[in-house]
Amino acid sequence: MLDFDGIRNYWDTRASGDSSAQSTTQDVYLREIEYRVLAERVGRLRPARVADVGCGDGRTTLRLAAGCPDLAFEGYDYAASMIDNARASGTAPSVANVRFAQRDIMDGLPERFDLVYTTRCLINLPSWDMQMAALRHIHAGLADGGTYLMVENFQEGHDNFNAVRRAYGLPEIAVRPHNFFFQRPRLIDFMAPLFALREELNISSTYYLTSRVIYARICADQGATPDYFDDHHRLAAGLPFAGEFGPVRLLVFEKKAPEAGR
Ligand SMILES: C[S@@+](CC[C@H](N)C(=O)[O-])C[C@H]1O[C@@H](n2cnc3c(N)ncnc32)[C@H](O)[C@@H]1O
Repeated sequence: MLDFDGIRNYWDTRASGDSSAQSTTQDVYLREIEYRVLAERVGRLRPARVADVGCGDGRTTLRLAAGCPDLAFEGYDYAASMIDNARASGTAPSVANVRFAQRDIMDGLPERFDLVYTTRCLINLPSWDMQMAALRHIHAGLADGGTYLMVENFQEGHDNFNAVRRAYGLPEIAVRPHNFFFQRPRLIDFMAPLFALREELNISSTYYLTSRVIYARICADQGATPDYFDDHHRLAAGLPFAGEFGPVRLLVFEKKAPEAGR
């Protein structure tokens, strides 16, 4: 796997000269699912100040901010080219309540927020030690009682869908060299003194079974290359969530009061 600088360079290079919808992920319909679950919870919780850590080109930040004009959003990313792209598309008057800044989460958050979210950001830290440090920074950057919406990939769900792929005669999909997935048991243990876990959902299981197993098998049978824009992806993104056969989970954490957390 790549080291920290290699991963940062990967993201900076990836966004340079690419302001398309696929500059932060090829899987645009997975991002639709993520947007949906975030929008529902942000809309319900109404946090005054929101931080998107690892906002990439700001697509999700901008959509959420446009839908909640009375809330203030800050988008942070360590890749300068991502922030350039986010700012270029963030000038519309309808999203005046969002600002973007280049910032590495390993340097902490500059102020306190009522809600912080990450969507597939912390999996780009190459070790559990670094991931724990980032989670401590998120905790410190939240007001007491504030919410952390964690949308990140987990090894267990990844292994589960690969087992189904094997059963369908498909090769396993490897974790990419710039990613290091969470392991649920140790994450839950680490977070327990800091946060109360309010909700947990595998948001990628039905989507992965449809896109990475059924559609992948159809493509293999037809000798076709899978296409992220295929209707199987589009339609799978609307399915209800069920099962544990995909890597991406939503965990809703509420920051504990200091006396309860120490
Ligand atoms: C998979 S992309 C997701 C982008 C965005 N959250 C989305 O859902 O479209 C991961 C993003 O996290 C950013 N990132 C990775 N490590 C970071 C760190 N230590 N601090 C800030 N941003 C980071 C990358 O530059 C990249 O833009």
